[in-house]
This record gives sequence, structure tokens and C-alpha cells, in this order.
Amino acid sequence: MKSYACVTGADRGLGYELVKVLLEDGYIVFAGQYNKEWRLLDELSTEYPDRLHIVELDVSNDESVKTAAEFIRSKTDRIDVLINNSAISGNHEPTIFDQLDFDEMIRVFNVNCLGATRVTNALIQLIVNSDKKLIMNISSEAGSIGTCYRKGWFAYCTSKAALNMQSAIVHNNIRELGGQVILIHPGWMKSWLTGEYHDEAPLTPDIPAGKLIEIIRDPEQYKGERPAFIDYEGNKWEF
Ligand SMILES: NC(=O)c1ccc[n+]([C@@H]2O[C@H](COP(=O)([O-])OP(=O)(O)OC[C@H]3O[C@@H](n4cnc5c(N)ncnc54)[C@H](OP(=O)(O)O)[C@@H]3O)[C@@H](O)[C@H]2O)c1
Repeated sequence: MKSYACVTGADRGLGYELVKVLLEDGYIVFAGQYNKEWRLLDELSTEYPDRLHIVELDVSNDESVKTAAEFIRSKTDRIDVLINNSAISGNHEPTIFDQLDFDEMIRVFNVNCLGATRVTNALIQLIVNSDKKLIMNISSEAGSIGTCYRKGWFAYCTSKAALNMQSAIVHNNIRELGGQVILIHPGWMKSWLTGEYHDEAPLTPDIPAGKLIEIIRDPEQYKGERPAFIDYEGNKWEF
């Protein structure tokens, strides 16, 4: 039987690598394209013309999500795996003693938390139509309240903590139907998340992607009353 996945924010970084490993595993993939300047998805579609669907998707925009969901519904009646990966970081520097940029915080919250909620809301019927019913939300250790040490990063940390809460609520909705949400801390990766490339990070995004596909193949062990919050190697993280 064919398997279907949807990945948001798939132009580069972890999202792109997840699209690659899902395609290698035989999935038909709907890859959310936000930044058309990056051509990696287009190059990949020449390798997988029948199984990679590139879908324009701005998760912060109601209309964009609605249009993308309509396109996906025209191609399939189920989504086995939804990966909410899109994120922006916002300014990390200001502390509570500085002037905070609340407009920027709203933008970050809109992408990182509401974006995942919008996409999940638009695709929930397709997800529950599948046998697997797996939603993987890419969170961060930065969203853990229990281990918080930072004095800045207001927008990013609070948006990821909110993503964790929305995941708990979605999990409550789909758990009794046999579904699950898994929250992932993918590790510190070389990427453009902050707007500049962080070469000092220890991981290239293909490394967590290679581990996450193993979790996607066998998510049963992470089922429970609450969504599992784990790192890319499957180690438990504190909420
Ligand atoms: N890098 C790390 O060390 C690290 C650590 C912990 C967690 N994470 C999480 O891992 C995930 C992937 O991050 P990454 O490091 O791979 O960074 P990334 O390459 O910047 O990936 C994020 C993707 O989301 C896209 N995006 C931004 N705004 C969007 C919107 N409105 N709608 C749809 N997509 C949008 C970005 O587009 P652009 O190409 O335009 O930027 C980018 O393709 C994120 O959820 C991040 O929070 C990363």
C-alpha cells in the first residue's frame, strides 16, 4: 500500500533532509515550499517525479494553508505522517531588561506554534483516515520549561513551549483513534535558522533526519498518554 507524508518548511535544512529520507523509504511526499530561491526541492523532483509533490506553503497564512490542503486532498484521501518542521527564530539577544519587539514575537509565534496548528487543523481528516496517524512536531530543547536556562530567546522559546502544549492537545484528540503526536528536539544543527549559517553546530541536518526516519518507521514504542518529547536519538526530553 502507498504511504503519504507531508513536511512543512522543506526547502532546506532538516525539512529538506526529511523529505529525502521519506522518499528513500518509498513515501509519496508533499513538501512545503516557502523559499523559492532555494532550488534543492526542484532538483530532487527530477529524481522522484512521481512521488514528490512540491506545494507552496506559508504556514503563517490561512489562505496559503487552505490552498495547500485542497491540493493535497485532490491527490490523496490520507496522510500517514505529517511533519510540522517550519520555524523562524527571532532575535535571541534581548532580555526582560531590554525593549522587546512584540511584533516580531507575534510573527515567530504565528509560524512556530500557530503554523503547526493551522496545518494540522487543515489536514486532520486525512491524518485520521490513515492507519499510522502520526504527527511529528519539530520542537526544541528551547521549548522545555523544565530545563530552561536562557535569559533571552523570548519569541523562540515561548513559541516552542506553546507548540509542545498544542501537541499535547492534538495528541488527546487522536490518541483514542490510534494516533499519536511525537515532539522532537533534533539537536543543534548547521542551518540558516537564525538567518545566518551556523557552521559551528555539531550536526548536519541529514544526521537527525537519518535517525528520525527510524522513529517514523516504528513509532509504536513512543505511544503514551502524553506526546513523547524526545531527541533525535529517541532519548526522553523534559517538558
Ligand atoms: N538548527 C538547530 O540547531 C535547531 C535546534 C532545535 C530545533 N530546531 C528546529 O528544527 C526545525 C528545522 O530547522 P532548521 O535548523 O532546519 O532551520 P531552517 O533551515 O531555517 O528550516 C526551517 C524552514 O522553515 C521555513 N519557514 C520559515 N517561515 C515559514 C513559513 N511562514 N511557512 C513555511 N515555512 C517557513 C524556512 O524557510 P527559509 O528557507 O525561508 O528560512 C526553512 O525552510 C525547526 O522547527 C527548528 O526550530 C533547529
